Amino acid sequence: MSAAPFLCKSPSMERWTVVELQRNSTNWATLVEEIVKLEKKIFPKHESLARYFDEELKKRNSGLLYVDLDGEVTGYVIYSWPSSLSASITKIAVKESHRRQGHGETLLKAAIEKCRSRPIQRISLHVDPLRSPAMGLYKKLGFQVDSLIKSYYSSDRDAYRMYLDFDEN
Ligand SMILES: CC(C)(COP(=O)(O)OP(=O)(O)OC[C@H]1O[C@@H](n2cnc3c(N)ncnc32)[C@H](O)[C@@H]1OP(=O)(O)O)[C@@H](O)C(=O)NCCC(=O)NCCS
Repeated sequence: MSAAPFLCKSPSMERWTVVELQRNSTNWATLVEEIVKLEKKIFPKHESLARYFDEELKKRNSGLLYVDLDGEVTGYVIYSWPSSLSASITKIAVKESHRRQGHGETLLKAAIEKCRSRPIQRISLHVDPLRSPAMGLYKKLGFQVDSLIKSYYSSDRDAYRMYLDFDEN
């Protein structure tokens, strides 16, 4: 397992790190199980990736970063690069008890940095416009709304498609 260079201290003085999930790590199954539990708790079925986690993470062009706080997973972000030019943020979530301490922002910044290390021009994502904390986070890090996609999640749940473009140089 290799740690991304993010050692953080929240206002509550807790120390936590952002770690990259390694495909060949011995604790892969335990970590994925813990993250799937979080996913099920945080997202309703129509937004949940829980059933596809293993499949999603075994793809060669996807990655997962998580927050490790004394061995506890308190948040995660999944990203992928389906083409050589574009990447997407598939999912980001932080445990309810640990929100508003900078975990989400640090995770998203770390995922953006991972994408930036490839020759990618744009990162896209979909978000339910009703998820105002997520909308606030994405806008804070420079994402812009591209379009509204009606009935994206279910017949009565729409999504904004958002994007962040990288400079050419
Ligand atoms: C979105 C989410 C990941 C944010 O995680 P977090 O650790 O609480 O966020 P941070 O503490 O890093 O906050 C970073 C920024 O996000 C925005 N934000 C976070 N919570 C917010 C809230 N409740 N209301 C408005 N903006 C909020 C703010 O811009 C904040 O910056 P600020 O502290 O300077 O105001 C978290 O709320 C979550 O897990 N939500 C449920 C899952 C979800 O909606 N995921 C996105 C769809 S896949």
